Amino acid sequence: MRDPVLDGYAAAASDLTDRFERISSQDLFAPVVDFLPRSASRVLDVGAGTGRDAAWFAARGHAVVAVEPVEPLRAAGRRLHPHPRITWQDATLPALADFKAEPFDLIVVVAVWHHLRRTDRGQALRRLAEVLKPNGRLIISIREGASAPDRVGYSADVSQTVAMAHEAGMAVVHKATTPSVQTQNKDADVAWTWLVLEASAPL
Ligand SMILES: C[S@@+](CC[C@H](N)C(=O)[O-])C[C@H]1O[C@@H](n2cnc3c(N)ncnc32)[C@H](O)[C@@H]1O
Repeated sequence: MRDPVLDGYAAAASDLTDRFERISSQDLFAPVVDFLPRSASRVLDVGAGTGRDAAWFAARGHAVVAVEPVEPLRAAGRRLHPHPRITWQDATLPALADFKAEPFDLIVVVAVWHHLRRTDRGQALRRLAEVLKPNGRLIISIREGASAPDRVGYSADVSQTVAMAHEAGMAVVHKATTPSVQTQNKDADVAWTWLVLEASAPL
């Protein structure tokens, strides 16, 4: 079945590639930098786009699996970031069907959450919790403000996401809201709330 979100990204892939690559991963992850692994770790980047952040993590010694369902974005990522520590996979939230990998120390879901329907977000969190190591962290950025007019987005409520994360066995260890790092989005009052989630301690 065709997905309007993924079709939108496929149609805009060549324009978006430059735009994605202009963003500094260092600036982007500043709100959660204290929660990133300091030693070589296994990192999963879901909705990796052109692999800008996958490459940033790989350059820091991490082994990265970049999951991206849109073929032209995966192709751009392979071409722009041919790093031996990055493996690309084609999979889609919420199911991540046919996705096989050892568990991860860190999962990042950057600028993807508003593309999932509310009814899919609980399943997505449960699936992500399954592929996270027991002491691992899941970092999600949640868009606040209007979606891009030419790509489908659904409003994403932070408190609902937190409640769903609790149901999936995870707790919030850090939350921060920052303006967009992209001038165009910042001017349109787009902000991002970053959640750092960890598996809840057993009672
Ligand atoms: C705004 S882009 C962000 C890309 C990248 N994370 C970045 O920050 O540059 C959203 C990405 O999510 C991907 N995406 C959309 N829906 C998805 C889904 N259901 N599962 C996985 N990825 C999805 C799109 O293909 C696109 O690459």
